[in-house]
Amino acid sequence: MSGRLEGKSALITGAARGIGRAFAAAYVREGATVAIGDINLAAAEQTASEIGAGAYAVSLDVTDQTSIEAAVLAVEARAGGIDILVNNAALLDLAPIVEISRSSFDRLFAVNVAGTLFALQAVAKSMIARGKGGRIINMASQAGRRGEPLVAVYCATKAAVISLTQSAGLDLIKHRINVNAIAPGVVEGEHWDQVDALFARYENRPLGEKKRIVGESVPYGRMGRPEDLTGMAVFLASDEAEYIVAQTYNVDGGQWMS
Ligand SMILES: NC(=O)c1ccc[n+]([C@@H]2O[C@H](COP(=O)([O-])OP(=O)(O)OC[C@H]3O[C@@H](n4cnc5c(N)ncnc54)[C@H](O)[C@@H]3O)[C@@H](O)[C@H]2O)c1
Repeated sequence: MSGRLEGKSALITGAARGIGRAFAAAYVREGATVAIGDINLAAAEQTASEIGAGAYAVSLDVTDQTSIEAAVLAVEARAGGIDILVNNAALLDLAPIVEISRSSFDRLFAVNVAGTLFALQAVAKSMIARGKGGRIINMASQAGRRGEPLVAVYCATKAAVISLTQSAGLDLIKHRINVNAIAPGVVEGEHWDQVDALFARYENRPLGEKKRIVGESVPYGRMGRPEDLTGMAVFLASDEAEYIVAQTYNVDGGQWMS
């Protein structure tokens, strides 16, 4: 039986670990060739070798235009073009409003917003030149649906990702490029271990407590796992999602309704 992404070429940013890594493995299982684009090239190479044939590493810093363009060229050279982009690389930081630093603000917006827009732009240009359409999936978050104390900047970046998904989705569908987004809730992994440590500091909690409380508050009954999101990521990249344009889908165990 052939996979749902048979013969497709995908680039996933920030795929050396976490959710992006799970997406890469799922796409390879569905028959795609996947470029693991990450600022941490050694980790990307390790991940690609663990996923096996079908995955390969590409050096990529989404805050650097030269690096974005080199990564697009590398994928074109290796796979003949790009059918699917997942804009997954992102950073999170925590601070009360009165302590937010300009450097933290600038870094989060550079990676999460500018990185998403300019990777999307470079790949859209490549897709338009090739004339075969494509799929672009941006990683939003439930944090983009409403603000939260301590998480103001990250929430604002993810609200911007939802907005960019709508604008790019409406602009690019004439080229048969579908742009949509996934909004996870809280997902296990190294990312949330770092978030837990930040909450421990700012809310004066023991390590692990925030994670436990957050997991218990999910209607499903536990935190998400990267594998909980792969079904939506495969679906949005597949032919079945042809008529879906500019949407953001919650995959969060029932945390947010919209
Ligand atoms: N984990 C969660 O609870 C959660 C919830 C909602 C949304 N999300 C979103 O899902 C996506 C993946 O989250 P995750 O938990 O797997 O993250 P993660 O922190 O585990 O992985 C992020 C990856 O991005 C890479 N990266 C960082 N800066 C980069 C840059 N400038 N250029 C290229 N790569 C860079 C890192 O090296 C890392 O491999 C992110 O967009 C995140 O905001 C995560």
